[in-house]
Amino acid sequence: MAYRWKNDLTLGDATPRGVFLNRRQIMAGSAGLGLGLGLAGLAGLAQAQEALEANTLDEIRAYNNFYEFGTGKEDPARNAGAMVTSPWTIKVDGLVDNPGDYALADLLDGLTVEERIYRFRCVEAWSMVIPWNGVELADILARVGVQAGATHVAFETTVQPDVMIGVQRGVIPFPYVEGLRLDEAMHPLTIMATGIYGEPMANQNGAPIRLVVPWKYGFKSIKSVVRITLTDSEPPASWNIINAREYGFYSNVNPTVDHPRWSQASERRIGGGLFASRQDTLMFNGYDEVAPLYEGMDLRAFY
Ligand code: MTE
Repeated sequence: MAYRWKNDLTLGDATPRGVFLNRRQIMAGSAGLGLGLGLAGLAGLAQAQEALEANTLDEIRAYNNFYEFGTGKEDPARNAGAMVTSPWTIKVDGLVDNPGDYALADLLDGLTVEERIYRFRCVEAWSMVIPWNGVELADILARVGVQAGATHVAFETTVQPDVMIGVQRGVIPFPYVEGLRLDEAMHPLTIMATGIYGEPMANQNGAPIRLVVPWKYGFKSIKSVVRITLTDSEPPASWNIINAREYGFYSNVNPTVDHPRWSQASERRIGGGLFASRQDTLMFNGYDEVAPLYEGMDLRAFY
């Protein structure tokens, strides 16, 4: 059966706050008119609506992690403009039928670019709602032909030392690398994003193409990908290499497993403004449909 992904976040909800408040009143009204929502249900609905508001493009582009361009949140916006993103070639190798150096346009040719409005939760306990444009990674993998022995997918970010101040300073080991289990990579929620709000991906967000895995902490969503390798073992992952005790390979968003140095039970929504208060972090960042991928696994051990 074909999987139908349903956007639970819609851009229509990124409306001015006045309208937003109105909607809540309307909802409260209709509940009163006998839609059968109890008080708790109403509170839940209001909370769900609150989570719908997408961040602005400016917020998404101004507050970043991209250590190649420095460790400060504003460094990527300041420094990433010099990254060369065209032409862009992605090396696909390992256990695939069609290995090669693919021009980005060839790899994506004919694939469906969709809008996916996802919650995005950084391991540092901040979050945004981001309207990505992208293709399912599964479609790319189908194109290159995954061989039977493959169990994992490895990713690598470009290294351009001339323009990457973080690389020059060696703030962490580069290239930045990440990996997924094959079933995670094939999950329909997993996308390779090429844009935000219908605009081409800004350099600081990982132009021209980056991974997005919405149920995992943001550091799994590796930027500016130049290599995709199908392997038969768990690939290295940058933050896991740097500090395995603090950052596991899986890194599923999990409010019940704290980071050794801070709680993961709640998060701060970037740009919350007047309404800014910490909100509860959801298991798998609210994407419960991935739970079967981890059935029988101790998520405390496989953090
Ligand atoms: N990818 C690379 N190559 N380098 C990085 O430093 N940071 C990660 C992830 N991908 C990072 C990366 C982290 S910690 C987060 S939270 C997200 O990118 C941030 O994505 P954003 O800046 O688009 O919000």
